[in-house]
Amino acid sequence: MEKLDLLEQIAIVTGAGKGLGWAIAQRLAQDGANVVIAEIDQQRGEEKARAIQEMKREALAIPTDVTQWADVDNMAKRVMAKFKRIDILVNNAGILGPYHPVMEYPEDDWDRVIAVHLKGTFLCCKAVLPIMKEQRRGKVVNMASVAGKEGNANMAPYAAAKAGIIGLTKTLGKEMAPYNVRVNCISPALIETDMAKEMTPDQRALLTSKIPMGRLGKPEEVAAVVKFLASDESSFVTGQCYDISGGRSVY
Ligand SMILES: NC(=O)c1ccc[n+]([C@@H]2O[C@H](COP(=O)([O-])OP(=O)(O)OC[C@H]3O[C@@H](n4cnc5c(N)ncnc54)[C@H](O)[C@@H]3O)[C@@H](O)[C@H]2O)c1
Repeated sequence: MEKLDLLEQIAIVTGAGKGLGWAIAQRLAQDGANVVIAEIDQQRGEEKARAIQEMKREALAIPTDVTQWADVDNMAKRVMAKFKRIDILVNNAGILGPYHPVMEYPEDDWDRVIAVHLKGTFLCCKAVLPIMKEQRRGKVVNMASVAGKEGNANMAPYAAAKAGIIGLTKTLGKEMAPYNVRVNCISPALIETDMAKEMTPDQRALLTSKIPMGRLGKPEEVAAVVKFLASDESSFVTGQCYDISGGRSVY
């Protein structure tokens, strides 16, 4: 029987226009949540909001570039104006960036990759955490990666940003614990999304070969762990990084 343990909860998922963000938005809606799609691609965001409404949940698409404080601040204010509270924030938006060794990495690409992942996660937390603190209730799930634990050659800003997200998560776990706001992150290995398709065949083969289970993960396998961390089932878990890596990460 369906459990619907997120019924009536308000969840924001950044970058939910496709890939893992969309799988997470669907899973949270399936379990009862109303979902805000905070997505830079307006058309994709609106399509996905309509799809959530077809699941008989409330949905709102808010065009948001997570690197811009004005966008993020406006997004949080619009969510509060409509729903009056925010229960769940999933900081998922991300870009891969080009492949270069550090010696050749273009500075503007470095800045953009760090900005979308690390600054974007910081800005969304800065906008939403005061609301969760006031409510004395909230769950944040940040998207890290095994790249942030182990590094991936030619992906330095991506790996550095993901390592930064793990540090930010552990810090927020401590800062927000007194207010009943839990902050965790997840660290997937390679998952079957467009991001994985953007990789060169060699890069894809290399990253797949590092996974002991010998296959890529599925978006719904990532969404299931996010659901756990966003629900009361994980009520004594905060400041943690959960791997979804088919055995790749060992710590
Ligand atoms: N796919 C993988 O193998 C994998 C593994 C580990 C971690 N991740 C992480 O999961 C997250 C999602 O990855 P994905 O594979 O679904 O990627 P994807 O490219 O399929 O989707 C990313 C989404 O984020 C949106 N986005 C990009 N920049 C944005 C911005 N500035 N503001 C708001 N939205 C923005 C895009 O429009 C897109 O809808 C990323 O943080 C990624 O680093 C992915």
